[in-house]
Amino acid sequence: MDNLNKNIIVTGASKGLGLEITRVLLEKNYIVYAINRTTTTSLAQLASEFPSALKVHHMDLAQSSEITSSLKKIFTENVPIAGFVNNAAAAYDDIITNLDYNRLEEMYRINVFSPQMITKFVLRNMLLNKLPGSIVHISSISVHTGYKGLAMYASTKGALEAFSKNTAREWGARGIRSNCIVGGFMETEMSSTLSDDQKQRIYGRTALKKATSKESVALAAEFLLSGSSSSITGQNIFVDNGTI
Ligand SMILES: NC(=O)c1ccc[n+]([C@@H]2O[C@H](COP(=O)([O-])OP(=O)(O)OC[C@H]3O[C@@H](n4cnc5c(N)ncnc54)[C@H](OP(=O)(O)O)[C@@H]3O)[C@@H](O)[C@H]2O)c1
Repeated sequence: MDNLNKNIIVTGASKGLGLEITRVLLEKNYIVYAINRTTTTSLAQLASEFPSALKVHHMDLAQSSEITSSLKKIFTENVPIAGFVNNAAAAYDDIITNLDYNRLEEMYRINVFSPQMITKFVLRNMLLNKLPGSIVHISSISVHTGYKGLAMYASTKGALEAFSKNTAREWGARGIRSNCIVGGFMETEMSSTLSDDQKQRIYGRTALKKATSKESVALAAEFLLSGSSSSITGQNIFVDNGTI
């Protein structure tokens, strides 16, 4: 299998979509470096199922200036990195007239600044090892449709979409690909504050009239990491039940 023993960094693997991506990658024989602040029971369970393939590291992505030194502590030897799934994110939702600068800045550190610093580290590792690689950012349908209260959050994901396309252009000649998955509404902790009524209205805006499946998004991430997508780069792949 072409993915056997490939090292992949997944951020936000402790729950929600990141946990599902980690499960899918482990089942397909990748080695996963999971980065989050906490180890949940579900992640610990996965670690006991895949003791040598899942490596869990605690890091606070809000501390963007410390990201490089934290990564250097994890990758002490020259472990070749084949892929990076930028999944961790915080969602600060409010209407724009209530915008609080400190909350905005913290969200940007987690959603934009740290992923860009991790990308720098990952690219340098791939270039040093002269190996091709794949980067996958998890974006959101809110960038493309707009939702009341999600302007600040959506702007962080829009920044990632631009960063991804430019990464693809800048490093494609060295065999490094970068794509975004534009996720639709999924049932996770991030979306748990919405009422049933709000959820039904969001589902009503999709062709399939239901929540996007985490597994479907996770399988798309695995596809973008794998050799099966070797000609795909600089793209936004919508996995959103068909938002209309
Ligand atoms: N849910 C949706 O409807 C939806 C729709 C479209 C796109 N997305 C995107 O999908 C991705 C996953 O979202 P989700 O719904 O699975 O969210 P979630 O259930 O809230 O999980 C978020 C993950 O990010 C990690 N994280 C948050 N802040 C962190 C920090 N400061 N440092 C390190 N890790 C941090 C969390 O781990 P710890 O708490 O352990 O640190 C957790 O593993 C995100 O990029 C989100 O924007 C979600």
